[in-house]
Amino acid sequence: MRRAGRAAAEMIEHLAALLKPGISTADLDDAAVAWTSARGYRNGPLNYHGYPKSICTSVNEVVCHGIPTKKLVLKDGDIINIDVTPIVDGWYGDTSQTYHVGTPRPQAKKLVDVTAECLRRAIAVVKPGARLGDIGAAIQEYAEANGYSVVKDFVGHGIGRTFHAPPQVPHYGKRGKGSRLEKGMCFTIEPMINAGTWEIEVLDDGWTAVTRDRKLSAQFEHTIVVTEHGCEILTALE
Ligand code: MF3
Ligand code: CO
Ligand code: CO
Repeated sequence: MRRAGRAAAEMIEHLAALLKPGISTADLDDAAVAWTSARGYRNGPLNYHGYPKSICTSVNEVVCHGIPTKKLVLKDGDIINIDVTPIVDGWYGDTSQTYHVGTPRPQAKKLVDVTAECLRRAIAVVKPGARLGDIGAAIQEYAEANGYSVVKDFVGHGIGRTFHAPPQVPHYGKRGKGSRLEKGMCFTIEPMINAGTWEIEVLDDGWTAVTRDRKLSAQFEHTIVVTEHGCEILTALE
């Protein structure tokens, strides 16, 4: 899992360096395929329940599962979440980050910064004996204190030799509720935070989830492992 996580972290950094106005989300997918195949890795998303591409690229009002396409050319001021899941020797490393294209817009910058802080606060409560509700509460409280809402339709997940395993990790909840965490558990935390309503809708392609009010959404994701006294982020570069 450390090797898969490190690969995911290096891969996303490589893709982020390509971001600029004028490139399409299909260009990012092409770069992802080149990066993984050069190393003998595969991409978890490709053909996963019929998903047609190797990464997810979710722009502006897209909450998650945006499908890369030549038709979507990035422009100055867009935000884009890139979500990668390379498979290394059968193990999955899952991470995503939201980036500004060109010059950040102030409202987008606040949403992206708050979402990143939600993930940091969630990771900070992870240790043996803590509960899943502690994670959700940390995210929900900080998001709502900033006037934002938490997406309920998608959750973090156990991960290992399969992409999505139990437990489900909600990004909302009550402190002290839910299953207890144990040393050695590997799972993702991946809050999706919306500027307006928490409600989403899935487009006719069967994948692209957008905010119902078409306001902005941001997301950050790490794969972590619970350790003796806390956790280790497997998808961060030191
Ligand atoms: N990487 C996403 C997650 O964080 C899942 C993408 S599934 C796909 O769980 F099929 F859309 F790629
Ligand atoms: Co995930
Ligand atoms: Co992911």
